[in-house]
Amino acid sequence: MLLALISDIHSNLPALRAVLEKIDELGAEKIICCGDIVGYNSFPSECFYELSKRDVESVMGNHDYAALTGDTKGFNKYAAEAIEWTRKNFDTKKLSSLPIRIEKDNMLFTHGSPRSIFEYIFPDAPTYFLESIADKERDFTVLGHTHIPMMVETKKGTYINPGSVGQPRDGDPRSSFALLDSGRKKVSFQRLEYDVEETARANRKAGLPDFLSERLYMGV
Ligand SMILES: [Fe+2]
Repeated sequence: MLLALISDIHSNLPALRAVLEKIDELGAEKIICCGDIVGYNSFPSECFYELSKRDVESVMGNHDYAALTGDTKGFNKYAAEAIEWTRKNFDTKKLSSLPIRIEKDNMLFTHGSPRSIFEYIFPDAPTYFLESIADKERDFTVLGHTHIPMMVETKKGTYINPGSVGQPRDGDPRSSFALLDSGRKKVSFQRLEYDVEETARANRKAGLPDFLSERLYMGV
């Protein structure tokens, strides 16, 4: 099956729309999201609706959790402010049905790491560490959270992060996602330009901190 892997949309509708259109063009049969549908930008309802409309399965990210509970412990002031805005402008109860993990066909999908939605797994994580946190051997463990694309093979299976749709942080402002051919066990990473200005304009209109728009132009 050709799966499209997306993550960290963060209420960025122009980016999500561009990515979904491209995914259709590439012929993916199913889309799985590794969390953080909301936070940072100003289109939470629209992004949630786009995913529901397409039966995208998503796990819960730490920003989804914060929007649902109001608990922004560990967030910087910009992230916390965006969560506060999200709680005023979106029916966050809709996020309560998101699972912490999805397991299917010997693959695991979760936000942070196999043991916590809050733990960051960066591309330079040593393989012995990745093996130590795997709860079992799998073909693929698919994560989000860092906003940085990653693929590392280990004895416990391959770790993948498709990068971020709505707030890339690897110095490339284009949206990031991945395609996974689960039968052939092949992964390809994709980058796609979207209308950053449209997102920034909407953020400014919503009264969100300027920094959250400025970072989108730089991909940081
Ligand atoms: Fe995120």
